[in-house]
Amino acid sequence: MKIIDKKFIAVILSEYISYFSIEELESFVEIPPDEFSYTYAFPCFRLAKFEKKSPLLIAEDLKNKIKLPESIESVEAEGPYLNFMVKSQIILNNITLLQEDYGRMREKDNPVSKSTVVIEYPSPNTNKPLHFGHIRNMLLGKSLSNLLIYKGYRVFQVNLNNDRGIHICKSMIAYKKWGQNEEPNIKSDHFVGNYYVKYNKMLEKNPQLENETRELLRLWEDGEVETRELWKKMNKWAFDGFKITYDKLGIVFDKEYFESNLYLKGKEIINEGLNKGLFETTEDGAIFARLKEKYNLEDKVLIRSDGTSIYITQDIYLAYIKKKDFDYDKSIYVVGDPQIQHFKWLFAILDLLGFKEDNFHLSYGMVDLPEGRMKSREGIVVDADDIISKVEKLALEEVIKRYPNLSEEKKKYRAEVIGMAALKFYILKFSAIKGFTFNPKESISFEGETGPYILYCFARINSIISKSGRDVDISIKWELLTHQTELLLLKQLTYFPEIINSAENSYNIHIIPQYLLSLCQSFNSFYSSCQVISENKELEKARLLLIKSVQVVIKIGLDILGIETLEQM
Ligand code: ARG
Repeated sequence: MKIIDKKFIAVILSEYISYFSIEELESFVEIPPDEFSYTYAFPCFRLAKFEKKSPLLIAEDLKNKIKLPESIESVEAEGPYLNFMVKSQIILNNITLLQEDYGRMREKDNPVSKSTVVIEYPSPNTNKPLHFGHIRNMLLGKSLSNLLIYKGYRVFQVNLNNDRGIHICKSMIAYKKWGQNEEPNIKSDHFVGNYYVKYNKMLEKNPQLENETRELLRLWEDGEVETRELWKKMNKWAFDGFKITYDKLGIVFDKEYFESNLYLKGKEIINEGLNKGLFETTEDGAIFARLKEKYNLEDKVLIRSDGTSIYITQDIYLAYIKKKDFDYDKSIYVVGDPQIQHFKWLFAILDLLGFKEDNFHLSYGMVDLPEGRMKSREGIVVDADDIISKVEKLALEEVIKRYPNLSEEKKKYRAEVIGMAALKFYILKFSAIKGFTFNPKESISFEGETGPYILYCFARINSIISKSGRDVDISIKWELLTHQTELLLLKQLTYFPEIINSAENSYNIHIIPQYLLSLCQSFNSFYSSCQVISENKELEKARLLLIKSVQVVIKIGLDILGIETLEQM
């Protein structure tokens, strides 16, 4: 098995070029645009000053000198470029032999492959149900976990529940006053959320509610029995409701943390830091970190003058706990971009404390619905569960239209798979840092840049293969795959392990859906210009192997995105 990637090309070149390291050479290797049939290009400009020759001559020279390894079909000099063409049989062989392992080819020579990663998401507050932003959070956290697990990391998925504090007391006070001991008659986290909404509505007429809420928080902190009972009861409703949404998205945590257990403990670390002279006190007795000189950040208060801790205090403590629990090499926090500053502070303060661990804030932009802005102005939050049922409902309408003869059960199943694929793919195809508007109707379309489009492609390959009535066979005549659309597919298949590597190294999940889109687009143009089932049995065999390989790669990609496939569509 020969791993074909930029590095492989760099190694070939390193025999003839001594003044750059293999890593440097690798970084010069380019992936040519679709319209060129060769697989990799090496620009010779940078060699000119060493060789004291024009890049054109260097390219020509190298072409004549290079002894080609077996896996390379040809090398050509084209102007200042050296173009490599990989043998198609290598790629199809690799995919056929490795199957679902094809995307992790480089794992063995990857030094970080065995390292341990903790990924924290979605870390909700327990006063209201999960909202649309949490869906993006969960999809990012889950697919990043899938990707890193696929690449051989030990991954621990953890959740921090912000289950105490003034906002929790708001839903509690509303329930206390107007809930009449009612039990949930709707999904229980929504039930809790309704009291949070109620609180905000009532506040306008009853400004004294604020004092009552603060009083309730004091009672909670004193451990007053009745308050604690109510808190437990309402939090359980919130957790039970969240659990249903997590299940729906296939999310399982290795560990859940609770702010109520952590929030007092950060103080010790802060006080120790103060004693060591790492922090300072203000005139009125608050403790703060001076971060300007070393980190170019504003000062940050860590403990208020009344001795109470704040949001960051518990996060400092939690970092130590995670290290103790998992002895991680890397700790990732999936949290929206309003908290970028928070994590800058957190990582700086941890560094100041001598906690030199590798932390990363995977931040993401806000999402909206076409009508979303208007809604939020009216104070209506877009619930995660509502979005999920909305896409499933749209998917069911589409399924009923397209497949009227399916049994009810099959329709329902198909709608669920298609709906979730639509939602997940649409959200994951955007770079995390960008905000975007989620258009449910568009996401469910079978054409365009959508999940259903990819599923359709996958199912179509299935139906072609089964129509052929034969097993896919690896012993084909390679030289028959010469159509320009076939060459493009082969080229794209070659790059897949590299795509996976680059998503792994940058945590940019969207690279994978973007890749799948262009692969499926190429498949469709192949399919509209080349017949697979044909009189020419040798050609049929070769094309079946090609499309089967495309299917294997689609499946790996979708698995990482947490998207199920359908055999038929
Ligand atoms: N619960 C917080 C919020 O909803 C997010 C917590 C993020 N995680 C953390 N370790 N601070 O804003």
